[in-house]
Amino acid sequence: MAPTSVPPAKEALPRHVAIIMDGNGRWARKRHLPRAAGHVAGVAAVRAVVRAAVDIGLENLTLYAFSSENWKRPHPEVSHLMGLFRAYFREDVTELAERNVHMRIIGNRSRAADDILAMIEDGERRTSVNTGLNLTFAFDYGAQEEIAAAAREMAREAARGELDPEIVTPQYFATRLLTHGIPDPDLVIRTSGERRLSNFLLWQSAYAEFAFVDTLWPDFSRAEFFEVLQAYALRERRFGTVAPEAVA
Ligand code: FPP
Repeated sequence: MAPTSVPPAKEALPRHVAIIMDGNGRWARKRHLPRAAGHVAGVAAVRAVVRAAVDIGLENLTLYAFSSENWKRPHPEVSHLMGLFRAYFREDVTELAERNVHMRIIGNRSRAADDILAMIEDGERRTSVNTGLNLTFAFDYGAQEEIAAAAREMAREAARGELDPEIVTPQYFATRLLTHGIPDPDLVIRTSGERRLSNFLLWQSAYAEFAFVDTLWPDFSRAEFFEVLQAYALRERRFGTVAPEAVA
């Protein structure tokens, strides 16, 4: 398919796109560069996709920026990534605020460096009244821990007699997750040819459509983003039911 830079009409856009940004390391290796160069190029792709999302009026975009498992990478790589997050939040929050973006993070807030957390929380505060794109970074995020933490908290409340276990329906459970208030993703994109969820939004992706693209994250462009959105617009979502024309 030839690349198109035309996004679908607003009515045909998914309400929520979630992206697993994968392939920075391979992008660098192909160019005989250090992995760090791949992450730097990855930040440029983040900027391009966020700008594109704002331009087309997307409601929700969630980016898997750093998984809870990513702490296990070699220390120099983790530290370089943290430097990139620091620079991103220092340099980009003003643009996000001006473009009516509401940014936030989901994940464990207890392990990142204090200055990074302070910048994130400042960004969340500065953009909290904005009504445009809801931009969520999954940062030190792991879905199994998110679900376990919600269950643990509800179990504690039930043990104290503060929660009636009978009210714990899937709808209620969802209100106890970090994504409370954000609609479930309609479309999950993963770059780099891998076909895994890697502990990302496990609960929330129950009915999501998936788009696995071979492009390595630093090469994922605005045009390819629009192409994936165009392909999504042609899909038929049934949520476990049958298509109306199939009903006798
Ligand atoms: C996967 O590539 C990507 C990550 C672990 C981190 C994603 C980070 C960025 C895109 C840059 C920083 C982001 C922000 C929001 C400022 P990989 O290293 O696993 O690639 P590989 O599988 O090819 O080794």
